[in-house]
Amino acid sequence: MSTETKSEYASHKPLTIPDVAARKGKTPLVCLTAYSTPQAELADRHCDIVLVGDSVAMVVHGLSSTIGATLDMMIMHGAAVRRGLKKALMVVDMPFGSYEESPGQAFRNAARVMMETGCNAVKLEGGLRMAETIAFLAERGIPVMGHVGLTPQSLHVFGGFKLQGRASDAARIEDEAEAVAYAGAFSVVLEKIPEALAHKITTSVSIPTIGIGASAACDGQILVIDDILGVYAGFRPKFVKRYAEIGVAMTDAIAAYADEVRCRTFPGPEHVFHDMPNSK
Ligand code: KIV
Repeated sequence: MSTETKSEYASHKPLTIPDVAARKGKTPLVCLTAYSTPQAELADRHCDIVLVGDSVAMVVHGLSSTIGATLDMMIMHGAAVRRGLKKALMVVDMPFGSYEESPGQAFRNAARVMMETGCNAVKLEGGLRMAETIAFLAERGIPVMGHVGLTPQSLHVFGGFKLQGRASDAARIEDEAEAVAYAGAFSVVLEKIPEALAHKITTSVSIPTIGIGASAACDGQILVIDDILGVYAGFRPKFVKRYAEIGVAMTDAIAAYADEVRCRTFPGPEHVFHDMPNSK
């Protein structure tokens, strides 16, 4: 647990892209998603990178996959997260359909995301097929975080949220990660791949690897905030660790409120106004 005081926290300089690159092979990068200002404020104290993930479509908007996330959705949540961050590096996911067509399409939409949210970088899914686009963005001032292995926007191609990079498929994922690094991404997310493969990629690529279901061999870790807090009631992958059961606390609080309203014990005398001279 962090023992940092309020003033130590306030004295931190915001993390930059070169700072992240310099963490390769050093203290693991702590990354977490956030979708709102209050979540960002909480994450900022303890995390190096805050990602406005397209997982927002599932955990906030109730969709069954990330495919339904839109550019407007990402920008609205991104702007909210920006208002809650002081020191963490902020990355916003490019949603499905906003970048795959051409480097030009990706640049236009990524520039809009950066201008309208104030984020430091964007993340996009795909290896070899996205290398040209990653280079195009990076050369034009848009830092890119790559994402290979299980790329949830390709859910239907994979036939589900399946482990990637098994046996003979390992070389393909390795090539994808190499291509992302070579194209100029500043870091790469490795999702749901075997530990040995994550280790191999982490030792071979020059940029930090951020694992999600990819073992502690990576240069950092990322999880979805609603998953670690026990708020998201949808499916729970093996790689998720719940650090709290806030969903249970929320249900109990709502049930207690409902009971008290029904039996008229809420509002109590302390919540009631009276038309008297000194009443606040
Ligand atoms: O959308 C998301 O939350 C992600 C993960 C890597 C956490 O892409």
